[in-house]
Amino acid sequence: MQRRNLLKAMLTAGVLAAGTAGGYAEETVKIGLILPMTGPFASTGKQIEAAVKLYIAEHGDTVAGKKIEIVLKDDTNVADITKRLAQEMVVNDGVKVLAGFGLTPLALAAAPVSAQAKVPQIVMAAGTAIITERSPFIVRTSFTLPQKATVMGSWAARNGIGKAFSIVADFAPGHDSEKWFKDSFTKAGGQMVGEARVPMANPDFAPFLQRAADAKPDAIFVFVPSGQGALFAKQYVERGLDKSGMKLIATGDLPDDDILNGFGDAALGMITADPYSAAHPSAKNVAYVAAFKKANPAMRPNFMSVGGYDGMHVIYEALKKTNGGTDGEALLAAMKGLAFESPRGPISIDPATRDIVQNIYLRKVEKKDGELYNIEFATVEAVKDPDKASRP
Ligand code: PHB
Repeated sequence: MQRRNLLKAMLTAGVLAAGTAGGYAEETVKIGLILPMTGPFASTGKQIEAAVKLYIAEHGDTVAGKKIEIVLKDDTNVADITKRLAQEMVVNDGVKVLAGFGLTPLALAAAPVSAQAKVPQIVMAAGTAIITERSPFIVRTSFTLPQKATVMGSWAARNGIGKAFSIVADFAPGHDSEKWFKDSFTKAGGQMVGEARVPMANPDFAPFLQRAADAKPDAIFVFVPSGQGALFAKQYVERGLDKSGMKLIATGDLPDDDILNGFGDAALGMITADPYSAAHPSAKNVAYVAAFKKANPAMRPNFMSVGGYDGMHVIYEALKKTNGGTDGEALLAAMKGLAFESPRGPISIDPATRDIVQNIYLRKVEKKDGELYNIEFATVEAVKDPDKASRP
């Protein structure tokens, strides 16, 4: 009799606990956010974390009747840790979506987990073309380096740059940048006079800058990952290359909005190709930059941040379409073909490749209100990843 009363009391307590959430227990959808929050690429993690928080603050933490819970973990830019965290999040924490992935090796390490568990993997930062092909559950909201490098290469050849020397970081997105810059630049009539790959760990750009200067190109084309731009700029200026008459052209990863002001006036005139500038003159972006800075006074949103912000939008829109259902196949189907306005401009998820389709802007570093910005002056619309488009 006593045991029965106890059981009854426990059940009643359970019902009451559920009752406090408005009559029904509100189900939670956990999103596992894996990012480099420490180390040389911590800026990518911090930008994306800030953007994810901003998205939730603006759109609420409930979607299609489900409460959204972010589980953030630092992979410290070590691929084995990314993979272990992804496994633990799926198996132990029951996350229904994996997101983040600050660099290519980290995104690739998690791909087998998303493929086997059939859990959507939203790549918010990494940019090597092949990433989306490593798991049918990957959707990318960042960019591909071939998107940026091809636009830079063909613009350069058509705008008075006859000879170029490329300097890229020696890992997959750097190799993509080198190949696709060269391809579009030479097809449009340009000539490569040299190529150099700089080691990723503790990079020293000085000897490579010297080699480039000795080859006397009209321009140096550069890809360095977000987080290395400040050191590149410092060594470029130290060697006096800003006064050499050689032009500096790059993907937007170099004059990253978060650090551009630190480059000083030596950066004025640098031309780059990228999907995002904090100076993009749309109402949506003006509001985004203002809200981001209000929540994070020491930061300016960069191109990594919009990958995080738009990645959250893809997750929210997919959950709306599935009425809160978290089946991986259903979420993927809902994500394919999504099209919406991002702070960077119009974007969509290519249903065939699950990769992002977006405008790539040509920009020039100029001073505005006493600060340095990448000011857009031309647009190539709705660019698909050229690498996948080049293969059957
Ligand atoms: C990458 O690892 O794919 C990556 C990292 C930083 C960038 C771009 C690409 O700025």
